[in-house]
Amino acid sequence: MPKPARSRNLLDFLFDVPKEEFLNDYYPHRALIYHGPPERFGGLEKDPTFQNPEATLHAAKGDYILGFHHKRGSSVQAQSMFARFSALGMLQEGWSLNVDFLDQTVPALGKWMDSLQKDLGLKPGNIFCSGIISPAGSGVPKHFDSVEVFTIQLYGSKKWWWAPATEIAFPGTSVMPGVKNNYRDGNMRPDYYPKDISKEMPKGAKSAVMKPGSAMFMPRGWWHQTYAETLSISLNVGIRMSTGVDALTGALQSELEKLDAWRKPLPLATPEHLASARQHLAALLKDLAANLENFDDKAVHWASKDGPSRPRMGPPK
Ligand SMILES: [Fe+2]
Repeated sequence: MPKPARSRNLLDFLFDVPKEEFLNDYYPHRALIYHGPPERFGGLEKDPTFQNPEATLHAAKGDYILGFHHKRGSSVQAQSMFARFSALGMLQEGWSLNVDFLDQTVPALGKWMDSLQKDLGLKPGNIFCSGIISPAGSGVPKHFDSVEVFTIQLYGSKKWWWAPATEIAFPGTSVMPGVKNNYRDGNMRPDYYPKDISKEMPKGAKSAVMKPGSAMFMPRGWWHQTYAETLSISLNVGIRMSTGVDALTGALQSELEKLDAWRKPLPLATPEHLASARQHLAALLKDLAANLENFDDKAVHWASKDGPSRPRMGPPK
């Protein structure tokens, strides 16, 4: 049984498996859930920020709060953005609220995120922490995310259902089927996504009630939905791990941008421009092979925490 700790990092006490076992056997492809004592969060479970919705909303950064409509007994599934001053009223109307960037406003969370970023070898900015507030009987509709997520229950109880998506592996954007406007991540669906996706959770989805002290790891591309059993406040920690596309294209861009010939603009207004652009690109492609030597090392470095930083994660304000 993990013991309460203030000085250890999050992965030392979040689950009932040692950090090494979590990193080798679960991260990032297997879900893991553990219902442990909330005291192991080192006081975070008693932080005034998470004792009522008003306090959590007070810690919000920015003027807008994302809302989810997913009420028991209602077929309406929706997202909306609320002005911060009206968010509490929408919570009372049965909407769940997503409060972003709490790691930037709650010092204890900021420390956790910094240590988790280092433990996971992530680039700074590839990790974020949001609070999810749900009134009883409400939650977040069925969706998958394109990031890995840790969820930590701090107040009240909420039922989760989860299952790996069989429609697609390692999705590049989230999908919330049946929700017309995805304000959080945008409505773009890449060409490699199937056209029709069910609003219902897959048969055989697992379920559990998260209570204060419960923690879960959810891989990207796993369906999940929630309904709170009581007023519920939980944390969502999102992880944007680099993919092969990220590492190779990121490192390639970083290397090639150093070269004048690759930065040269290509006008495409006339037939002569088009012919010239083709000729130039053909020469660049020949040049590319010479620039790919030891490129795997460069790509791994680009993706690592020591590589160039990427824009901080999170939805637009
Ligand atoms: Fe999610």
